[in-house]
Amino acid sequence: MEYSVCLLAAGKGSRTQLEYNKVFYKLENGKTVLDTGLSVFLEDEDCKEIVIVSSHYEIEYVRSLYRRYEKIQVVEGGSTRQESVSNGLDQVGYPYVFIHDGARPYIKREQIELCKEALQTEDACLLMVPSVDTSKIVVDGYVQETLVRSTVYNAQTPQCFKTELIRYCQQKAKEENYIGTDDAQLVEKFGNTRIKMVLGDPSNVKITLPTDLK
Ligand code: CTP
Ligand code: MG
Repeated sequence: MEYSVCLLAAGKGSRTQLEYNKVFYKLENGKTVLDTGLSVFLEDEDCKEIVIVSSHYEIEYVRSLYRRYEKIQVVEGGSTRQESVSNGLDQVGYPYVFIHDGARPYIKREQIELCKEALQTEDACLLMVPSVDTSKIVVDGYVQETLVRSTVYNAQTPQCFKTELIRYCQQKAKEENYIGTDDAQLVEKFGNTRIKMVLGDPSNVKITLPTDLK
């Protein structure tokens, strides 16, 4: 199967408290966060196109980094993640798209293969890991309800869709001023299709806090 990647790097990374965007942080492997995740997709023959979404201030720098790669293009992001995804989707040219956080460098080929497999029969899937903690709904500082732990999963990326489906749901969200906290949520709301859970790996964390920087 042939797919595009929409790789998000247009955030600020403010919670890491670095003086620069966390996707440019150098990991122990000597490569940046962005480079590390990117290389997994660069090595996949089925990945035909990578649209990196970058902020207005960094776009020329990011273009200069990846100019030599034919399958990479760089587009400008927006002020929210959802807007950045929308801008990226505008450039996507293949029938399936994998939306991935540039801040998740530890994505493994194995999980990408599982997503591809799922898309043979599904229009939407995402990587998730079972919640190890008990999750409770809290309203105004008091517990309202405990969720059944065996049914609670935490979402990761990539989140993978038929391109037309996520484009449609993004458009609907825009029209209705609906903001989701991930991409799959837009499909839950507007998609009228089931979304397959693909078992992720707990190592596929999103670099978010200073303690994630190693
Ligand atoms: N992202 C983006 N455009 C935005 C906001 C976020 O492309 N306007 C990207 C980030 O670059 C990151 C991913 O979405 O790869 C996940 O977002 P998050 O972890 O929240 O990253 P930041 O927004 O950069 O971090 P923070 O919220 O701490 O500022
Ligand atoms: Mg953010």
